[in-house]
Amino acid sequence: MEKEEKEKWLLAGKIGKEIRELGVSLCVPGAKLLDIAEAIEKRTLERGAKPSFPPNISINQIAAHYTPKYDDKTELKEGDIVKIDVGASVDGYLSDTAASVAVGENENKLVIATKEALDSVVKIIKPGMAINEISALIDDTISSFGFSPIVNLGGHGIGKYSLHEGEFISNSKNYSGSFLRKEGVVAVEPFATNRGGYVIDSAEVQIYQFIANRNVRSPLGRSILKYVSDEYRELPFAKRWVINKFGKLAELEIRQLVAAGSLHEFNVLKEKDNGLVSQFEHSFLFDEGNVTVTTL
Ligand code: CO
Repeated sequence: MEKEEKEKWLLAGKIGKEIRELGVSLCVPGAKLLDIAEAIEKRTLERGAKPSFPPNISINQIAAHYTPKYDDKTELKEGDIVKIDVGASVDGYLSDTAASVAVGENENKLVIATKEALDSVVKIIKPGMAINEISALIDDTISSFGFSPIVNLGGHGIGKYSLHEGEFISNSKNYSGSFLRKEGVVAVEPFATNRGGYVIDSAEVQIYQFIANRNVRSPLGRSILKYVSDEYRELPFAKRWVINKFGKLAELEIRQLVAAGSLHEFNVLKEKDNGLVSQFEHSFLFDEGNVTVTTL
């Protein structure tokens, strides 16, 4: 790997860690989700990076893909399990990292179990290793606390301007017979729940991704597409960002761009039995046989 390329992966990781820790520090009773997201975004830009994706701030049964609405009024309450899942992009070199907080509590067993699953992966992960070794470690660690891993969420390869590519690193054992890449970046993200361990799409969508310029007639629609593809390429973006830039009419326009096949929607993911969900995540850089946890 080129030295300059490696430095950018590392910087993206360093900023990712910083904004994750900032997000976690803001998770106190009464804090507004919107304020937390905007603080994370502001810090990312101040550090000369862009978000890899909108800060995901998902509470309790919501596992992932929730970012605050432009007028979001949600406040954190004592006992909420909050997932802060964030990442930074340095010229397209990405990080992806998450931590969970039980608001107002020092020790929450579900959060501890998930953190321990990730910490144990940090100790054993090697380039090119069998993915099932990681999956089994996550599954066994979470199960040993009496919880379930979420089987249809997991880690993934990361490429330049590409948040999910290549291998899927399941949180459930005996799922994959393949191997991690030998060079490059992967993210590992254990999710645990106190119920069944399966997430489903909800109807709500706050995060989108550019797919292609289809035949868009509306001038506003064309402006939105140009803006998101110039600004975020094929990385996910928030509806809130588009509304802040183009006004409330953008909301209807986004729906039409989805219908036309120009934008992809990420539905908010919920645990199917309404279980509480906790998540931790790090990004790992493999280079000439060495492992660096870029977000540690
Ligand atoms: Co991820």
